[in-house]
Amino acid sequence: MNEMHAGFHVHHQPGSDSSASPLLLLHGTGGDEHDLMAFGRRIAPGSSLLGVRGRLLEGSLTRWFRRHGEGLFDLADMAERATELAVFVSSAGQHFGWSRAPIAVGYSNGANIAAGLLMRHPGTLSGAILMRAMNGLSSEPGLDLAGTPVLLLSGRHDPLAPEASRAVLVAALKQAGAVVTEAVTASGHGLEAGDAHAAQGWLASLRRA
Ligand code: MLT
Repeated sequence: MNEMHAGFHVHHQPGSDSSASPLLLLHGTGGDEHDLMAFGRRIAPGSSLLGVRGRLLEGSLTRWFRRHGEGLFDLADMAERATELAVFVSSAGQHFGWSRAPIAVGYSNGANIAAGLLMRHPGTLSGAILMRAMNGLSSEPGLDLAGTPVLLLSGRHDPLAPEASRAVLVAALKQAGAVVTEAVTASGHGLEAGDAHAAQGWLASLRRA
């Protein structure tokens, strides 16, 4: 169902399994709240799904935060918008009756804001699948992500998210205690079938743990 919630356009699909973590679906630049719905349903058949639309417009393209150029993030704006999104997630959790914090599934710009949520608002997410993510907001001293599972799905030939940038992100997550699983495939910045497969397997392994 399409609706506005707390100032964001959202698409909600209830889940059939109340024991499955809800998924918060965060699109890439130019996307919307529908983009990752099919992906989410494929990787988590029983979960409640919430697709959300970024509120910033860069020309006609939706985004989650401002940038000065490709890969040059406006970190002050990113921090503000991560806070806005954290407030939204908490309100959405009450509105949609979630019994636990969601797992974010973010692609590209959506993965970067999801990483920002982890860095600045621990507790907002119970885990994250970051697809084609890069380094953005740094962690703050004392950040505690102990035991928070994070799956990083990267492309070896991704020109936007080079290995060195990802390494900084992974180091910060691990330093804060997150349990990071990394998979690098022979892909570029775009998603491919292997991403859904890896995400599905990772979610299933969390449920078995
Ligand atoms: C970003 O701006 O978050 C990344 O450069 C990826 C993109 O959305 O183009």
